[in-house]
Formats: sequence, C-alpha cells, structure tokens
Amino acid sequence: MDNFAELHLHIEGTLEPEYLMELQARKNGTQLETIDELRKKYSFSDLQDFLNLYYESMQMLNASDDYSELADRYFQRVVGTGLTQVEAFFDPQTHGANGNSFETVFKALANSFQQANDKYGINARLIMCFERDRGPEAAKKTLDDVFAFFENKENDVFSNLLIGVGLDSAEAPFPPAPFAGVYERARNYGLHLVAHAGEEGSPENIWSALDDLGVERIDHGVRALEDEALLKRLEKDRVPLTVCPLSNYALKVVDSKKSAVRKVLDLLDKGIMVTVNSDDPAYFGGYIDDNYELLRSEGVGEDVIELLMQNSLKAAF
Ligand code: HPA
Ligand code: ZN
Repeated sequence: MDNFAELHLHIEGTLEPEYLMELQARKNGTQLETIDELRKKYSFSDLQDFLNLYYESMQMLNASDDYSELADRYFQRVVGTGLTQVEAFFDPQTHGANGNSFETVFKALANSFQQANDKYGINARLIMCFERDRGPEAAKKTLDDVFAFFENKENDVFSNLLIGVGLDSAEAPFPPAPFAGVYERARNYGLHLVAHAGEEGSPENIWSALDDLGVERIDHGVRALEDEALLKRLEKDRVPLTVCPLSNYALKVVDSKKSAVRKVLDLLDKGIMVTVNSDDPAYFGGYIDDNYELLRSEGVGEDVIELLMQNSLKAAF
C-alpha cells in the first residue's frame, strides 16, 4: 500500500475550473464563460503566464467559507491515495490584497486542516509563502501579521498548524537574497524555511536560497542539474528537492513528460534526496497520485517509486 507525503502543494492551486465556475455563479449570479472556454485558458507558455490566471482566479475566494471549502474538497480528492502527510503552501499576501486578512484565511484553512487530521488521519499542516514580486518589505509586514496573530493566546490552538515559510511567485526576476532578513526572523520564531528556486531561475538562486536564506528544502530545484558543484553540495547536505513533474511539463520548464520524469531520475542518480509532488494540481493536469502514475507510465520501477515515497516521508518536517 502506498504511503507518501506531499511537500509541494499550493492549496490555491487545487481550485478546479468547475469549482471556480460554481463560485462565479454563486457570487455573481451569472457565469461569464462556459467550462470549455475556461479550460482553454489552462495552457501556459511559462510560469508568469500561469501566475496571471492563478492570481486572477483567487479573486473568487473572498469569504472564510471559501477557504475551508477549497481545502475540504482537496482532502476529499486525495484521501485514499496513500497520502499520509501534507505540508501545503498558501499565499496570504494575495488574499490580503483581495481584502481577506491573514487571520480570516489562516483560521479557515487551519480548521479544515485540523479536520483532515481528525477525520482522515492525514497529518496536514501549512507553510505560508512570501510572494517574491511583492518584495522584502511586504514580506516583513506579513510576518508581523503572523506574530500579532499568535500573540493572542486564544490562537494557541492553531500554533502547530503553521510550520514554516516559503518563497514563491515570479522567480527569474526576483532572486532570494533580499529576503534574508525576513527569513532570519522567521527562523528565530521557530518556523521551518523553504523556498522555490531553480524552477525558471538559474542554479544561482538555489545557492542563494541555501546560503543567504538558510532553507532546509528547495522547492523544484531541477535546474541544479546544470551545476555540478551545486549537485555535490545538495548531496553532501542531504537537502531535499520537492520536484513537480506535471508542473514542469505544464510550465515548459521541460519539453516533454518523458523529460520531466528524466529530471527526477537524473537527480536520483546524482544521489540527491528527490521527492515527487504536484504543485498546482487543478492547473497542471494532476494530483500527487497522478504524478506517481506519470512516472510509472514512463517505465519507472516500483523500487524507485518506493524510494521516492520514503524520501518524501523523511523530508517532511
Ligand atoms: N512557482 C512559483 N510560484 C508559484 C508556483 C510555482 O510553481 N505555484 C504557485 N505559485
Ligand atoms: Zn510551487
């Protein structure tokens, strides 16, 4: 029986187009497009092209119940796949810009995540991401919101549900180093540290995430394959990479599904602690089980699948 952890999932990336249309109908009383018209938009030329649709769709999430419902639907989709742990990202800054406070969003998500623990036995927790294009000052304010939230002792019940901070959104134009101060504050507060790097950005971003931010895992990281010295460093320090094959294919980080799977195998060959994950399943054509199925369909054997699953459990916080 499969047993694995999902370490790279944006909960907003589970917003299925059918559900988006349901939200539009509920809130606006009308649907602006048919599901076929909407689905046509789910074909991306690169990361930024995807992010434009992703952030636009998030505008439909504007009540506490929306966040709980989104998370509940996600857990209903993945229960029974073999998923036993999930450490999911969320983007409080975009929700804040849409008028939804950290407190509203986090409490709604945390309640659903707690229920997933209680109802399904899935150990589910959250990592909040700073959006790199909003800059380090905005990130600092977001972290202040977190500190203020947990100063209220009534919120102690939620404290084990927020386990870390991450860094996402447009990578190539926004390197990690300016976020060093914010990461240091987060570490001193007892939060785990991760960052997206080496997805569309160069291996330099991976070095910087390790050395300037002190991250414990790298999200994506496939471009490490371009830098032998970096591969040695990742191997020596057993730094886990949360690789997302269907995402890499959908965002044209690689040019075929075969090559997305090849990246996983090449990194394993280099002795790297690789894990397989889904990123934004509603946008990229599949959930965590579909990513494992892709590997199987490309001829990856059960011994390697088992190793990847064990890696995911070891790399979990
Ligand atoms: N990269 C950067 N930002 C993101 C991603 C990603 O793959 N998914 C959601 N936000
Ligand atoms: Zn991601």
